[in-house]
Amino acid sequence: MPQKIAAGNWKMNAPDLGEVDALARQHPDPGVTLLLCPPATLLAALSERLSDMKIQTGGQDCHTASSGAHTGDVSAAMLKAAGASHVILGHSERRADHGESDALVRQKAEAALEASLTPILCLGETLEQRDSGQTLDVIETQLAGSLPKTDAPLIIAYEPVWAIGTGRTPTPGQIEEVHALLRDRSPADTPLLYGGSVKGSNAAEIFAIANVDGALVGGASLTAEAFSPIVSALEASV
Ligand code: PGA
Repeated sequence: MPQKIAAGNWKMNAPDLGEVDALARQHPDPGVTLLLCPPATLLAALSERLSDMKIQTGGQDCHTASSGAHTGDVSAAMLKAAGASHVILGHSERRADHGESDALVRQKAEAALEASLTPILCLGETLEQRDSGQTLDVIETQLAGSLPKTDAPLIIAYEPVWAIGTGRTPTPGQIEEVHALLRDRSPADTPLLYGGSVKGSNAAEIFAIANVDGALVGGASLTAEAFSPIVSALEASV
């Protein structure tokens, strides 16, 4: 059985860290893996704050090299040293803002595995690609291009670009179709997360879809009030 995971992606936002104390109080012994991915500057403080709690931390990106002349970048080893267990890679915002290719995402995933971090590999089609019937081809190409060439455990997140931060979500059938493809093409027992406008109000319906093992949550992970119902819905689905 793949692990069930509720992961928060804070993006370039710095919520009050008191929010995580409230989240930890509400889920002292979560029946699922709980993970928060803050901006790199907050990672060490958040990891330290959560050291006695059952909430893990992750980075939002890493460089392919372990150190060197790469101004502004952070290596996987540095994330690990700051307390991270995971790292989000290939998020569509990085693909769009920084021109990240599948090949680069694969190299980053290999660097993350080398540093003993679990990559959360993000894939997803644009609205234009969905509307022109290319979704499954796009996902298949992204997966083939960015999946590391080892069978080390990793996590895959399906995040349709048009659903991120928009309040729009795909139909259960659309999610199911992509997750069936991902299940077929990824290593056995890889947790498959859905991401894109997940909220307390739609989480239970999303977690009931075949081959959905959790969520990667942006906006709704910034407060305990918004994130806790999503965690509870995942716990209830186990
Ligand atoms: P959202 O973001 O939940 O705010 O739509 C999801 C993500 O980008 O990971």
